[in-house]
Amino acid sequence: MLSNSSLKVIKNICCIGAGYVGGPTMTMIAYKCPNLQIKVVDINEKRIKAWNSPDLDDLPIYEPGLSEIVEKVRDKNLFFSTNVSEAIASADVIFLSVNTPTKIQGVGSGKASNLEYLERSVREIASYSSGHTIIVEKSTVPVKTAETIKSILISYFNKESSVEKTYSIISNPEFLAEGSAIKDLENPDRVLIGGEEIDAINQIANIYNQWVPEQKIIKTNLWSSELSKLAANAFLAQKVSSINTISVICEKTGANINEVSRAIGSDKRIGDKFLNSGPGFGGSCFKKDIMSLVYLCNFYRLDEIAKYWENVVTINDWQQDRISNLIIQKLFGTIRGKKIAIFGFAFKADTNDTRESPAINISKNLILEGAQLSIYDPKVKEDNIKREFDYCLDVSTNKEFESSWAKTDSVEEAVKDADAIVILTEWVVFKKLNWNYLVGLLRKPSWIFDTRNIFNLRDLKDLKNTGINIWINGQDIPN
Ligand code: NAD
Ligand code: UGA
Repeated sequence: MLSNSSLKVIKNICCIGAGYVGGPTMTMIAYKCPNLQIKVVDINEKRIKAWNSPDLDDLPIYEPGLSEIVEKVRDKNLFFSTNVSEAIASADVIFLSVNTPTKIQGVGSGKASNLEYLERSVREIASYSSGHTIIVEKSTVPVKTAETIKSILISYFNKESSVEKTYSIISNPEFLAEGSAIKDLENPDRVLIGGEEIDAINQIANIYNQWVPEQKIIKTNLWSSELSKLAANAFLAQKVSSINTISVICEKTGANINEVSRAIGSDKRIGDKFLNSGPGFGGSCFKKDIMSLVYLCNFYRLDEIAKYWENVVTINDWQQDRISNLIIQKLFGTIRGKKIAIFGFAFKADTNDTRESPAINISKNLILEGAQLSIYDPKVKEDNIKREFDYCLDVSTNKEFESSWAKTDSVEEAVKDADAIVILTEWVVFKKLNWNYLVGLLRKPSWIFDTRNIFNLRDLKDLKNTGINIWINGQDIPN
């Protein structure tokens, strides 16, 4: 019942999950494959409504280039809906793009992936699919998840044996990065397709082949594909933690992190990407996927390997605490009642996503010390910041923190009478600011903390006679 792919022509695609992966990925497939009809479904009505909004500024996700393509394909061969069962029933291929967050309670809490959303979707597929269906794991999942999917499908098959249903399971993890999702999808480094049946693998490869060259499509077994996704994120995150440790040594020794990054990155074996030191990595996946890898290692009693990868996360947390402590210490050891301007709340530039953003931990630490934050971010909405603080500061119990921060509509408003500016996201707009003017709005003595290394030598020269104190991550700037 799990094979028998009768090489039928793929016409109808369903994607379960209209998030940061499901939305952009299906938009790109619809754009490149006008012969396919694609339904993206989600249980979150608000999200679907936003995807269908006539005003493209209201799309639930901000990604450069996304709205332009949505405008071209929406309601032509791309449809957003909450009708999950109907989309499943008519689909030849179903992409599972639901969230797979870290478990926060019970067995494996803090490490294992919570597969409840995936399991629910698979049960719905088992109930509503018809004929032969290719199920594609697009979500990032623990190794052997395809085995779980099979078990669920088999149990339903026994119950409803009168209905002719067959399935193939494919792993096709997504490698897009937020902020560059459209570029990544249009011109991926590789497309990875893992499976047990070559026909099903080829049918999925044929979709991508409509715009991705054959040599970029890597075909593997299921488990290699599932593991490669976790390993890729672990390697990338490891590079960020490594460069962040070197940035601290730079500050102590007078070496300059930009020079060191350039020097080591020009070795092709190391590579020049992912060598920007900063406030630590954020985003919904790096920490989650490393912890999933750690859980897997623990499961196989590979405790030394588990420790090795867990340290990548430990260093990341440490870097965020280090930066918060440094800010407090530079502001004479107390920030109670002081206004601090936060520049950027998204976990990186060009996204409105704040999940696991370093800005959350650093802001939280400053609020706990009594600071008053005024936050400016060009794309993150106030609701989103509120949700993050409500959770991390447990505002329902600690009501006093409700008034510890405010979102501003301009950098000027954020900076006026503040003691310090803390740059936490590398938005291009921050690189073009009139710093001389902004520094004049601060209360003296004042500080700029540039955690993202956006200041260049010219900025520093311009500010030389303003009396401002500057700290740049990984550089030793004399006060
Ligand atoms: P997300 O939270 O933005 O989106 C997931 C969506 O799935 C949500 O809108 C949720 O309502 C929906 N959903 C959950 N259960 C459902 C159900 N039973 N039926 C219908 N809809 C349901 O998550 P995301 O960032 O898009 O990530 C999805 C997966 O892709 C995760 O496994 C993640 O690790 C992986 N991934 C994410 C990125 C990224 O850049 N965000 C990149 C590569 C891989
Ligand atoms: C990352 C991977 O890059 C994608 O390939 C993967 O598909 C995705 O995770 C996922 O599985 O979710 P993403 O988290 O969107 O993508 O963004 P990245 O560009 O990887 O940045 C992650 C974090 O690392 C950000 O906070 C960023 O600021 C930080 N970072 C990145 C640095 O601090 N320095 C760098 O040099 C690069």
